[in-house]
Amino acid sequence: MKILIHADAAKAVDCVADLLVQRVQRLPASVLGLATGGTMEAVYARLIAAHRAGAVSFGAATSFNLDEYVGLSPDHPGSYWHYMRQHLFDHVDFDPACTHLPRGDAADPEAEAARYEAAIVAAGDIGLQLLGLGHNGHIGFNEPTSSLTSLTRIKTLTRSTREANAQYYQRFEDVPRLAITMGIGTIMRADEVVLLAYGAAKARAVAALIEGPVSAACPASILQMHRKVTVVIDEAAAAELTLRAYYAEVHPNGGPATI
Ligand code: F6R
Repeated sequence: MKILIHADAAKAVDCVADLLVQRVQRLPASVLGLATGGTMEAVYARLIAAHRAGAVSFGAATSFNLDEYVGLSPDHPGSYWHYMRQHLFDHVDFDPACTHLPRGDAADPEAEAARYEAAIVAAGDIGLQLLGLGHNGHIGFNEPTSSLTSLTRIKTLTRSTREANAQYYQRFEDVPRLAITMGIGTIMRADEVVLLAYGAAKARAVAALIEGPVSAACPASILQMHRKVTVVIDEAAAAELTLRAYYAEVHPNGGPATI
């Protein structure tokens, strides 16, 4: 596990955007695993800027998002389809036929989850998987106690996850209770994983992910078993790491942004 600690969130975001751009420059037909949430908004803004500057084209790439809320159609303002159009897809040159999210409004959500898993397998699995981190250690919407070998399926969201996302809805009661999410096993098949977390509120989950036991109590801790993971954090999110000085010695100031 490569741990890159940056002085602030902006530098951590730049680092992750650089890693994605480098991957697509090197392998234009990359299969990217994308995430949503507040953490990623700044990353996508950097990707849009890089695209506008002519540094990168997503025209040959394919994307699969981690998750979508059950019950929301792609045009619902709270859906992750909507988020992705707003924050990335409408501003860069992905072929719309090559961008994928689960259909939250599918008549049979379980069948939709199975279809989505099969589509990822058919694409040859994810090349680079981008992840955020939940305060409770979730990745995708794999909440604590998720099977560490799970595939894409329906998960019930914890109250804390619904509270963290309530800002995007008028009322807490409007935040969906169920999501279709890539499984932990799905994520673990990715060639490489880049996880981004910043801010003091993520420090406990970051410490559990990097230094805690591998446990379904912190689903992100399974990444300790992945061969190629880069965890990009800022100083605030690094605050509870026991071996923080060691990581900083290996990659001073976050090190060069290469995988
Ligand atoms: C989003 C996702 C989640 C978020 C996590 C962090 O697609 O799967 O795991 O990455 O909840 O969310 P933010 O960035 O809003 O703190």
